[in-house]
Amino acid sequence: MSQDTKKKNSAKAAFDLIKPNLNKDSVLGIGTGSTTNFFIEELNSADIDIKGAVCSSISTEKNLNSSIKVLGLNEVHSIDFYIDGADEFNDRFELIKGGGGALTREKILAYSSLKFICIVDDSKHTDLLGKFPLPIEVLEIARSAISREIMKMGGKPVYRNGFITDNGNQIIDVHKFPIKVPFELEEKLNNIPGVVENGIFSNRKADVIINAKEQGIDILEL
Ligand code: 5RP
Repeated sequence: MSQDTKKKNSAKAAFDLIKPNLNKDSVLGIGTGSTTNFFIEELNSADIDIKGAVCSSISTEKNLNSSIKVLGLNEVHSIDFYIDGADEFNDRFELIKGGGGALTREKILAYSSLKFICIVDDSKHTDLLGKFPLPIEVLEIARSAISREIMKMGGKPVYRNGFITDNGNQIIDVHKFPIKVPFELEEKLNNIPGVVENGIFSNRKADVIINAKEQGIDILEL
């Protein structure tokens, strides 16, 4: 089975899970990436009546069809379900996100949601986060200073050349950076001046992980 098929299966399982709970007042949060795009396909073709969706990126907003109203986060009280992929997950439901560069908005939406459902496939499972280079969104003027701080911490920062986030910032991907205590590192990185956000989701981790495997789908709840 291809990874794309697993991603599609995970996205479909997420849609089937939330569908019975949706009504005209429901607000969805929708993340960014190829797995989330499969979820959007489900949503676009479904016969549902919801209040609308808050998106973590401009590309996700563009992928939604006109049957789903795009809402700003300031317009809603909270998000009922936030659906998004991840680059890595562990058994404690902690994640690395930001491969698509949307980590800041993704973290804001995760924090604003009542239930964060993370759609992944088994290739993304790890015991120790950090094999996937950790994305950090930074202010342009602080990029080199932040990179030097990260080198002192033992990581190898690589500037994501030519990429600008939807917030107008840059991304540093940190290689060779095993994340032993995700909660601590998440906080420590965000304390470096000029860091907008980092891709460790430990303070606000997933509530549900839908993990698509060759043999079927695991729906894991915290
Ligand atoms: C985007 C993300 C994505 O969720 C993550 O990169 C996974 O992407 P994909 O579903 O394409 O594998 O964090 O910023």
